[in-house]
Amino acid sequence: MLPHRSAALAAVRAALMLFLISKVLASGEPLAAVAKRDCHECGGVDIPYPFGVRSSGCAMAPDYEVDCNETSKGVYKPFVSRNVEVLKISLQIGQARVMNHISSSCYNNISQTMDPPDEWYLNLTGTAYRLSDSANKFTVIGCRTLAYIADESYVGKYMSGCVSVCRRGDLRNAINGTCTGIGCCQTNIRTNLDYYQIVFEVGSLNTSGIYNMTPCSYAVLMDSSNFTFSTAYLTSTEFNTTYGGQAPLVLDWAIRTANSCEEAQKNFTSYACKANTFCLNSTNGPGYLCNCKKGYQGNPYLQGPNGCQASDSASSASDF
Ligand SMILES: *[C@@H]1O[C@H](CO)[C@@H](O)[C@H](O)[C@H]1NC(C)=O
Ligand SMILES: *[C@@H]1O[C@H](CO)[C@@H](O)[C@H](O)[C@H]1NC(C)=O
Ligand SMILES: *[C@@H]1O[C@H](CO)[C@@H](O)[C@H](O)[C@H]1NC(C)=O
Ligand SMILES: *[C@@H]1O[C@H](CO)[C@@H](O)[C@H](O)[C@H]1NC(C)=O
Ligand SMILES: *[C@@H]1O[C@H](CO)[C@@H](O)[C@H](O)[C@H]1NC(C)=O
Ligand SMILES: *[C@@H]1O[C@H](CO)[C@@H](O)[C@H](O)[C@H]1NC(C)=O
Ligand SMILES: *[C@@H]1O[C@H](CO)[C@@H](O)[C@H](O)[C@H]1NC(C)=O
Ligand SMILES: *[C@@H]1O[C@H](CO)[C@@H](O)[C@H](O)[C@H]1NC(C)=O
Ligand SMILES: *[C@@H]1O[C@H](CO)[C@@H](O)[C@H](O)[C@H]1NC(C)=O
Repeated sequence: MLPHRSAALAAVRAALMLFLISKVLASGEPLAAVAKRDCHECGGVDIPYPFGVRSSGCAMAPDYEVDCNETSKGVYKPFVSRNVEVLKISLQIGQARVMNHISSSCYNNISQTMDPPDEWYLNLTGTAYRLSDSANKFTVIGCRTLAYIADESYVGKYMSGCVSVCRRGDLRNAINGTCTGIGCCQTNIRTNLDYYQIVFEVGSLNTSGIYNMTPCSYAVLMDSSNFTFSTAYLTSTEFNTTYGGQAPLVLDWAIRTANSCEEAQKNFTSYACKANTFCLNSTNGPGYLCNCKKGYQGNPYLQGPNGCQASDSASSASDF
Protein backbone atom coordinates (compact mmCIF):
# COMPACT_ATOMS: atom_id res chain seq x y z
CA MET A 1 0.00 0.00 0.00
CA LEU A 2 1.45 3.39 -0.94
CA PRO A 3 1.99 5.67 2.08
CA HIS A 4 0.19 8.68 0.56
CA ARG A 5 -2.94 6.74 -0.21
CA SER A 6 -5.83 8.35 1.65
CA ALA A 7 -8.17 6.44 3.95
CA ALA A 8 -11.06 7.18 1.61
CA LEU A 9 -9.22 5.64 -1.30
CA ALA A 10 -8.34 2.63 0.83
CA ALA A 11 -12.03 2.15 1.62
CA VAL A 12 -12.94 2.33 -2.05
CA ARG A 13 -10.22 -0.18 -2.77
CA ALA A 14 -11.47 -2.54 -0.08
CA ALA A 15 -14.99 -2.33 -1.45
CA LEU A 16 -13.71 -2.98 -4.96
CA MET A 17 -11.75 -5.96 -3.68
CA LEU A 18 -14.88 -7.42 -2.05
CA PHE A 19 -16.74 -6.86 -5.29
CA LEU A 20 -14.01 -8.61 -7.24
CA ILE A 21 -13.88 -11.50 -4.80
CA SER A 22 -17.64 -11.99 -5.00
CA LYS A 23 -17.46 -11.82 -8.81
CA VAL A 24 -14.66 -14.35 -8.77
CA LEU A 25 -16.46 -16.73 -6.43
CA ALA A 26 -19.59 -16.42 -8.53
CA SER A 27 -17.70 -17.17 -11.73
CA GLY A 28 -15.90 -20.13 -10.23
CA GLU A 29 -12.47 -18.78 -11.19
CA PRO A 30 -9.53 -19.59 -8.95
CA LEU A 31 -9.50 -16.90 -6.27
CA ALA A 32 -5.73 -16.54 -6.42
CA ALA A 33 -5.87 -15.39 -10.02
CA VAL A 34 -7.41 -12.06 -9.13
CA ALA A 35 -7.25 -11.42 -5.39
CA LYS A 36 -3.52 -11.58 -4.82
CA ARG A 37 -1.57 -8.37 -5.12
CA ASP A 38 0.92 -7.97 -8.00
CA CYS A 39 -0.07 -11.28 -9.43
CA HIS A 40 -0.13 -10.19 -13.04
CA GLU A 41 2.02 -7.07 -13.02
CA CYS A 42 5.71 -6.32 -12.39
CA GLY A 43 7.43 -2.96 -12.79
CA GLY A 44 4.68 -1.72 -15.10
CA VAL A 45 4.78 -4.83 -17.32
CA ASP A 46 1.55 -6.86 -17.62
CA ILE A 47 2.04 -10.56 -16.85
CA PRO A 48 -1.30 -11.93 -18.16
CA TYR A 49 -2.61 -15.41 -17.32
CA PRO A 50 -1.40 -18.16 -18.09
CA PHE A 51 1.64 -16.18 -16.92
CA GLY A 52 1.95 -14.95 -13.35
CA VAL A 53 4.53 -13.64 -10.91
CA ARG A 54 6.51 -16.44 -9.29
CA SER A 55 5.35 -17.70 -5.89
CA SER A 56 2.07 -15.82 -6.18
CA GLY A 57 0.28 -18.98 -7.30
CA CYS A 58 -1.10 -16.99 -10.23
CA ALA A 59 0.52 -18.76 -13.15
CA MET A 60 -1.12 -21.72 -14.90
CA ALA A 61 2.01 -23.84 -14.37
CA PRO A 62 5.62 -23.28 -13.24
CA ASP A 63 6.63 -22.79 -16.90
CA TYR A 64 4.65 -19.55 -16.98
CA GLU A 65 6.06 -18.06 -13.82
CA VAL A 66 7.98 -14.82 -14.13
CA ASP A 67 10.45 -13.58 -11.50
CA CYS A 68 9.71 -10.08 -10.27
CA ASN A 69 13.03 -8.86 -8.87
CA GLU A 70 14.03 -5.60 -7.23
CA THR A 71 16.96 -4.60 -9.45
CA SER A 72 17.68 -1.38 -7.58
CA LYS A 73 15.95 0.23 -4.64
CA GLY A 74 12.23 0.40 -5.40
CA VAL A 75 12.70 -0.64 -9.06
CA TYR A 76 11.14 -3.98 -10.02
CA LYS A 77 11.71 -5.80 -13.29
CA PRO A 78 10.32 -9.08 -14.64
CA PHE A 79 12.73 -11.88 -15.63
CA VAL A 80 12.45 -15.32 -17.15
CA SER A 81 15.14 -17.99 -17.22
CA ARG A 82 16.81 -16.21 -14.24
CA ASN A 83 18.38 -13.24 -16.02
CA VAL A 84 16.40 -12.49 -19.18
CA GLU A 85 14.46 -9.25 -18.72
CA VAL A 86 10.88 -9.24 -20.06
CA LEU A 87 9.55 -6.11 -21.82
CA LYS A 88 6.15 -7.36 -22.93
CA ILE A 89 4.04 -10.52 -23.13
CA SER A 90 1.50 -10.83 -25.92
CA LEU A 91 -1.35 -13.33 -25.56
CA GLN A 92 -2.81 -13.14 -29.03
CA ILE A 93 0.30 -13.95 -31.05
CA GLY A 94 2.01 -15.99 -28.34
CA GLN A 95 5.13 -13.90 -28.08
CA ALA A 96 7.26 -12.32 -25.39
CA ARG A 97 9.67 -9.48 -26.01
CA VAL A 98 12.81 -9.77 -23.90
CA MET A 99 16.30 -8.28 -23.73
CA ASN A 100 19.27 -10.13 -25.17
CA HIS A 101 22.91 -9.41 -24.36
CA ILE A 102 24.97 -8.07 -27.29
CA SER A 103 28.12 -10.15 -27.76
CA SER A 104 31.30 -8.37 -28.79
CA SER A 105 34.86 -8.96 -29.89
CA CYS A 106 37.23 -6.00 -29.61
CA TYR A 107 40.78 -5.23 -30.63
CA ASN A 108 43.04 -4.25 -27.76
CA ASN A 109 45.12 -1.28 -28.80
CA ILE A 110 47.67 -1.87 -26.05
CA SER A 111 48.36 -5.58 -26.45
CA GLN A 112 47.72 -5.26 -30.22
CA THR A 113 45.72 -8.47 -30.21
CA MET A 114 42.05 -9.30 -29.96
CA ASP A 115 40.69 -9.27 -26.40
CA PRO A 116 38.95 -12.48 -25.32
CA PRO A 117 35.50 -12.10 -26.90
CA ASP A 118 32.39 -11.51 -24.81
CA GLU A 119 30.24 -14.43 -26.01
CA TRP A 120 26.73 -14.78 -24.62
CA TYR A 121 24.43 -17.80 -24.45
CA LEU A 122 20.77 -18.26 -23.67
CA ASN A 123 19.39 -21.53 -22.31
CA LEU A 124 15.61 -21.90 -22.66
CA THR A 125 15.70 -25.71 -22.62
CA GLY A 126 12.66 -27.16 -20.89
CA THR A 127 10.70 -23.87 -20.90
CA ALA A 128 7.61 -22.83 -22.88
CA TYR A 129 9.76 -20.42 -24.93
CA ARG A 130 11.42 -20.80 -28.31
CA LEU A 131 13.59 -18.25 -30.12
CA SER A 132 11.27 -16.73 -32.72
CA ASP A 133 12.45 -17.60 -36.22
CA SER A 134 9.86 -15.31 -37.78
CA ALA A 135 10.71 -12.13 -35.85
CA ASN A 136 14.45 -12.39 -35.16
CA LYS A 137 17.55 -12.35 -37.29
CA PHE A 138 21.07 -13.22 -36.27
CA THR A 139 22.76 -9.84 -36.71
CA VAL A 140 26.52 -9.30 -37.04
CA ILE A 141 28.37 -5.99 -37.33
CA GLY A 142 32.04 -5.61 -38.19
CA CYS A 143 34.57 -5.22 -40.96
CA ARG A 144 36.40 -8.52 -40.70
CA THR A 145 33.98 -10.57 -38.72
CA LEU A 146 32.79 -14.15 -38.73
CA ALA A 147 30.36 -15.04 -35.95
CA TYR A 148 28.55 -18.34 -35.40
CA ILE A 149 25.19 -19.00 -33.81
CA ALA A 150 24.81 -22.50 -32.42
CA ASP A 151 22.73 -24.61 -30.07
CA GLU A 152 24.15 -26.52 -27.14
CA SER A 153 27.82 -27.52 -27.33
CA TYR A 154 28.50 -31.22 -27.79
CA VAL A 155 24.82 -32.29 -27.83
CA GLY A 156 23.42 -29.71 -30.27
CA LYS A 157 23.00 -30.17 -34.01
CA TYR A 158 22.59 -26.60 -35.20
CA MET A 159 25.28 -24.17 -36.25
CA SER A 160 25.12 -21.29 -38.67
CA GLY A 161 26.94 -18.03 -39.11
CA CYS A 162 27.28 -14.66 -40.71
CA VAL A 163 30.26 -12.97 -42.35
CA SER A 164 30.70 -9.25 -42.56
CA VAL A 165 33.56 -7.65 -44.49
CA CYS A 166 34.67 -4.19 -45.59
CA ARG A 167 37.13 -5.00 -48.31
CA ARG A 168 40.59 -3.57 -47.66
CA GLY A 169 39.09 -1.83 -44.64
CA ASP A 170 37.20 0.52 -46.95
CA LEU A 171 34.08 1.65 -45.13
CA ARG A 172 32.72 3.67 -48.06
CA ASN A 173 30.85 0.67 -49.47
CA ALA A 174 28.88 0.25 -46.26
CA ILE A 175 25.49 1.90 -46.65
CA ASN A 176 23.14 3.18 -43.98
CA GLY A 177 19.96 1.15 -43.78
CA THR A 178 21.23 -1.84 -45.78
CA CYS A 179 22.62 -4.99 -44.25
CA THR A 180 24.10 -7.03 -47.10
CA GLY A 181 27.39 -8.38 -45.82
CA ILE A 182 29.34 -5.13 -46.13
CA GLY A 183 29.93 -4.10 -42.52
CA CYS A 184 26.67 -5.84 -41.56
CA CYS A 185 25.23 -9.31 -41.99
CA GLN A 186 21.87 -10.80 -41.08
CA THR A 187 20.61 -14.34 -41.36
CA ASN A 188 17.51 -16.32 -40.42
CA ILE A 189 17.56 -18.99 -37.72
CA ARG A 190 16.11 -22.46 -37.56
CA THR A 191 12.66 -23.07 -36.09
CA ASN A 192 12.10 -24.76 -32.68
CA LEU A 193 15.35 -23.46 -31.20
CA ASP A 194 15.51 -23.20 -27.41
CA TYR A 195 19.22 -22.65 -26.90
CA TYR A 196 21.65 -20.25 -28.45
CA GLN A 197 25.27 -19.34 -28.08
CA ILE A 198 27.55 -17.01 -29.99
CA VAL A 199 31.07 -17.86 -31.05
CA PHE A 200 33.39 -15.40 -32.76
CA GLU A 201 36.04 -16.67 -35.12
CA VAL A 202 39.07 -14.76 -33.88
CA GLY A 203 42.16 -16.77 -34.67
CA SER A 204 42.13 -16.86 -38.44
CA LEU A 205 41.15 -13.28 -39.21
CA ASN A 206 43.87 -10.62 -39.19
CA THR A 207 42.24 -7.56 -37.74
CA SER A 208 45.38 -5.62 -36.89
CA GLY A 209 45.13 -3.49 -40.01
CA ILE A 210 41.61 -2.21 -39.33
CA TYR A 211 41.32 -1.70 -35.61
CA ASN A 212 41.74 2.05 -35.85
CA MET A 213 38.57 2.28 -37.90
CA THR A 214 36.55 -0.59 -36.45
CA PRO A 215 37.75 -1.60 -33.01
CA CYS A 216 34.78 -3.82 -32.14
CA SER A 217 32.60 -6.44 -33.83
CA TYR A 218 29.15 -7.30 -32.51
CA ALA A 219 26.79 -10.26 -32.78
CA VAL A 220 23.30 -10.72 -31.40
CA LEU A 221 20.04 -12.49 -32.19
CA MET A 222 17.46 -9.70 -32.22
CA ASP A 223 14.08 -8.52 -33.45
CA SER A 224 14.86 -7.52 -37.04
CA SER A 225 12.13 -4.86 -37.02
CA ASN A 226 14.14 -3.11 -34.32
CA PHE A 227 17.32 -2.94 -36.36
CA THR A 228 18.50 -0.43 -38.93
CA PHE A 229 22.14 -0.52 -39.88
CA SER A 230 24.17 2.65 -39.45
CA THR A 231 27.77 2.98 -40.63
CA ALA A 232 28.41 4.66 -37.28
CA TYR A 233 28.04 1.19 -35.73
CA LEU A 234 31.34 0.24 -37.38
CA THR A 235 33.42 3.17 -36.27
CA SER A 236 32.09 3.71 -32.76
CA THR A 237 30.45 1.86 -29.89
CA GLU A 238 27.07 3.36 -30.92
CA PHE A 239 25.39 0.01 -31.65
CA ASN A 240 26.15 -1.20 -28.13
CA THR A 241 25.33 2.09 -26.42
CA THR A 242 22.08 2.72 -28.36
CA TYR A 243 20.68 -0.47 -26.88
CA GLY A 244 22.47 -0.26 -23.51
CA GLY A 245 24.34 -3.50 -24.24
CA GLN A 246 21.06 -5.40 -24.78
CA ALA A 247 18.90 -5.72 -27.89
CA PRO A 248 15.22 -6.69 -28.06
CA LEU A 249 14.63 -10.38 -28.80
CA VAL A 250 11.28 -12.05 -29.54
CA LEU A 251 10.40 -15.41 -27.96
CA ASP A 252 7.50 -17.56 -29.14
CA TRP A 253 5.62 -19.30 -26.33
CA ALA A 254 2.78 -21.80 -26.40
CA ILE A 255 0.91 -24.27 -24.22
CA ARG A 256 3.26 -27.20 -24.71
CA THR A 257 1.56 -29.93 -22.66
CA ALA A 258 0.05 -31.28 -25.90
CA ASN A 259 1.64 -31.35 -29.35
CA SER A 260 -1.27 -29.77 -31.23
CA CYS A 261 -4.84 -28.50 -30.91
CA GLU A 262 -6.25 -31.87 -31.88
CA GLU A 263 -4.26 -33.65 -29.18
CA ALA A 264 -5.16 -31.03 -26.55
CA GLN A 265 -8.87 -31.25 -27.32
CA LYS A 266 -8.89 -34.94 -26.41
CA ASN A 267 -8.76 -33.95 -22.72
CA PHE A 268 -11.02 -31.04 -21.81
CA THR A 269 -9.77 -31.06 -18.19
CA SER A 270 -6.32 -29.97 -19.26
CA TYR A 271 -7.36 -28.03 -22.41
CA ALA A 272 -6.27 -24.42 -21.82
CA CYS A 273 -8.73 -22.67 -24.16
CA LYS A 274 -11.88 -21.51 -22.32
CA ALA A 275 -15.30 -20.32 -23.54
CA ASN A 276 -15.70 -18.46 -26.86
CA THR A 277 -12.21 -19.32 -28.08
CA PHE A 278 -10.54 -21.14 -30.91
CA CYS A 279 -7.26 -23.05 -30.93
CA LEU A 280 -4.17 -22.40 -33.05
CA ASN A 281 -1.30 -24.82 -33.52
CA SER A 282 2.01 -23.42 -32.37
CA THR A 283 4.12 -22.30 -35.34
CA ASN A 284 7.38 -22.73 -33.42
CA GLY A 285 7.76 -26.03 -31.60
CA PRO A 286 5.02 -28.36 -30.33
CA GLY A 287 1.88 -27.00 -28.68
CA TYR A 288 -0.99 -24.61 -29.20
CA LEU A 289 -2.35 -21.14 -28.48
CA CYS A 290 -5.84 -19.91 -27.69
CA ASN A 291 -7.51 -16.86 -29.21
CA CYS A 292 -10.93 -15.29 -28.64
CA LYS A 293 -13.46 -15.97 -31.38
CA LYS A 294 -14.23 -13.10 -33.75
CA GLY A 295 -16.42 -10.56 -31.96
CA TYR A 296 -15.11 -11.53 -28.53
CA GLN A 297 -12.43 -9.90 -26.40
CA GLY A 298 -10.61 -10.88 -23.23
CA ASN A 299 -8.21 -13.51 -21.99
CA PRO A 300 -8.86 -16.80 -23.81
CA TYR A 301 -7.14 -18.75 -21.02
CA LEU A 302 -9.66 -17.55 -18.38
CA GLN A 303 -13.24 -18.53 -17.72
CA GLY A 304 -15.69 -15.89 -16.51
CA PRO A 305 -15.72 -12.07 -16.70
CA ASN A 306 -12.06 -11.72 -17.73
CA GLY A 307 -12.36 -14.42 -20.34
CA CYS A 308 -13.57 -13.92 -23.91
CA GLN A 309 -16.67 -11.73 -23.80
CA ALA A 310 -18.74 -10.22 -26.60
CA SER A 311 -16.69 -7.16 -27.65
CA ASP A 312 -19.22 -4.41 -26.88
CA SER A 313 -19.51 -5.45 -23.20
CA ALA A 314 -15.88 -6.15 -22.45
CA SER A 315 -13.82 -3.03 -23.09
CA SER A 316 -11.53 -3.57 -20.09
CA ALA A 317 -11.08 -7.32 -20.34
CA SER A 318 -8.29 -7.03 -22.90
CA ASP A 319 -6.06 -5.76 -20.09
CA PHE A 320 -5.74 -9.29 -18.78
C1 LIG B 1 15.58 -12.99 -9.78
O1 LIG B 1 15.16 -13.73 -8.64
C2 LIG B 1 15.26 -15.15 -8.79
C3 LIG B 1 14.65 -15.80 -7.58
O2 LIG B 1 15.13 -15.24 -6.40
C4 LIG B 1 16.74 -15.50 -8.98
O3 LIG B 1 16.87 -16.90 -9.18
C5 LIG B 1 17.28 -14.77 -10.20
O4 LIG B 1 18.66 -15.02 -10.34
C6 LIG B 1 17.05 -13.27 -10.08
N1 LIG B 1 17.45 -12.64 -11.34
C7 LIG B 1 17.98 -11.44 -11.42
C8 LIG B 1 18.34 -10.95 -12.78
O5 LIG B 1 18.19 -10.76 -10.44
C1 LIG C 1 20.22 -25.83 -20.06
O1 LIG C 1 19.12 -25.97 -19.19
C2 LIG C 1 18.72 -27.32 -19.01
C3 LIG C 1 17.45 -27.34 -18.18
O2 LIG C 1 17.54 -26.47 -17.09
C4 LIG C 1 19.86 -28.10 -18.33
O3 LIG C 1 19.48 -29.44 -18.19
C5 LIG C 1 21.10 -27.99 -19.22
O4 LIG C 1 22.18 -28.61 -18.57
C6 LIG C 1 21.45 -26.55 -19.49
N1 LIG C 1 22.55 -26.48 -20.44
C7 LIG C 1 23.62 -25.72 -20.27
C8 LIG C 1 24.69 -25.82 -21.28
O5 LIG C 1 23.70 -24.94 -19.34
C1 LIG D 1 24.91 7.08 -41.64
O1 LIG D 1 24.12 7.70 -40.62
C2 LIG D 1 24.90 8.22 -39.53
C3 LIG D 1 23.94 8.81 -38.51
O2 LIG D 1 22.92 7.93 -38.23
C4 LIG D 1 25.87 9.28 -40.05
O3 LIG D 1 26.70 9.71 -38.95
C5 LIG D 1 26.75 8.68 -41.13
O4 LIG D 1 27.57 9.66 -41.68
C6 LIG D 1 25.89 8.07 -42.24
N1 LIG D 1 26.76 7.36 -43.16
C7 LIG D 1 26.72 7.54 -44.47
C8 LIG D 1 27.68 6.74 -45.28
O5 LIG D 1 25.91 8.26 -45.00
C1 LIG E 1 48.25 -8.68 -40.21
O1 LIG E 1 48.13 -7.53 -41.01
C2 LIG E 1 49.19 -6.58 -40.81
C3 LIG E 1 48.86 -5.31 -41.59
O2 LIG E 1 47.64 -5.34 -42.20
C4 LIG E 1 50.50 -7.21 -41.26
O3 LIG E 1 51.56 -6.30 -41.04
C5 LIG E 1 50.73 -8.47 -40.44
O4 LIG E 1 51.89 -9.15 -40.91
C6 LIG E 1 49.53 -9.43 -40.53
N1 LIG E 1 49.73 -10.51 -39.58
C7 LIG E 1 49.55 -11.80 -39.94
C8 LIG E 1 49.76 -12.80 -38.85
O5 LIG E 1 49.26 -12.14 -41.08
C1 LIG F 1 45.75 3.18 -30.65
O1 LIG F 1 47.03 3.57 -30.23
C2 LIG F 1 47.67 4.50 -31.10
C3 LIG F 1 49.06 4.76 -30.57
O2 LIG F 1 49.64 3.59 -30.13
C4 LIG F 1 46.85 5.78 -31.15
O3 LIG F 1 47.41 6.67 -32.08
C5 LIG F 1 45.41 5.45 -31.58
O4 LIG F 1 44.60 6.62 -31.51
C6 LIG F 1 44.81 4.40 -30.70
N1 LIG F 1 43.52 4.00 -31.25
C7 LIG F 1 42.45 3.81 -30.50
C8 LIG F 1 41.21 3.41 -31.23
O5 LIG F 1 42.45 3.95 -29.30
C1 LIG G 1 11.61 -1.81 -30.99
O1 LIG G 1 10.35 -1.97 -31.63
C2 LIG G 1 9.26 -1.71 -30.77
C3 LIG G 1 7.98 -2.01 -31.53
O2 LIG G 1 8.20 -2.70 -32.70
C4 LIG G 1 9.32 -0.25 -30.32
O3 LIG G 1 8.25 0.00 -29.43
C5 LIG G 1 10.64 0.00 -29.61
O4 LIG G 1 10.75 1.37 -29.27
C6 LIG G 1 11.81 -0.39 -30.49
N1 LIG G 1 13.03 -0.28 -29.71
C7 LIG G 1 14.17 0.12 -30.23
C8 LIG G 1 15.33 0.19 -29.29
O5 LIG G 1 14.30 0.41 -31.41
C1 LIG H 1 28.27 -2.56 -24.14
O1 LIG H 1 27.42 -1.90 -23.20
C2 LIG H 1 27.41 -2.51 -21.93
C3 LIG H 1 26.38 -1.79 -21.08
O2 LIG H 1 26.53 -0.41 -21.15
C4 LIG H 1 28.81 -2.45 -21.32
O3 LIG H 1 28.81 -3.08 -20.06
C5 LIG H 1 29.78 -3.17 -22.25
O4 LIG H 1 31.09 -3.07 -21.76
C6 LIG H 1 29.73 -2.57 -23.64
N1 LIG H 1 30.54 -3.36 -24.55
C7 LIG H 1 31.34 -2.83 -25.44
C8 LIG H 1 32.14 -3.76 -26.27
O5 LIG H 1 31.45 -1.61 -25.58
C1 LIG I 1 -2.31 -28.94 -36.03
O1 LIG I 1 -1.22 -29.84 -36.11
C2 LIG I 1 -1.66 -31.19 -36.26
C3 LIG I 1 -0.43 -32.09 -36.12
O2 LIG I 1 0.68 -31.54 -36.75
C4 LIG I 1 -2.37 -31.35 -37.60
O3 LIG I 1 -2.79 -32.68 -37.78
C5 LIG I 1 -3.58 -30.42 -37.61
O4 LIG I 1 -4.23 -30.44 -38.87
C6 LIG I 1 -3.19 -28.99 -37.28
N1 LIG I 1 -4.39 -28.23 -37.02
C7 LIG I 1 -4.59 -26.98 -37.48
C8 LIG I 1 -5.86 -26.32 -37.08
O5 LIG I 1 -3.78 -26.43 -38.20
C1 LIG J 1 -6.72 -35.07 -18.44
O1 LIG J 1 -6.01 -34.01 -17.79
C2 LIG J 1 -6.08 -34.06 -16.36
C3 LIG J 1 -5.45 -32.78 -15.82
O2 LIG J 1 -4.18 -32.57 -16.36
C4 LIG J 1 -5.41 -35.32 -15.89
O3 LIG J 1 -5.48 -35.39 -14.46
C5 LIG J 1 -6.09 -36.53 -16.51
O4 LIG J 1 -5.38 -37.71 -16.16
C6 LIG J 1 -6.14 -36.41 -18.03
N1 LIG J 1 -6.96 -37.47 -18.61
C7 LIG J 1 -6.55 -38.27 -19.58
C8 LIG J 1 -7.55 -39.25 -20.08
O5 LIG J 1 -5.43 -38.17 -20.07
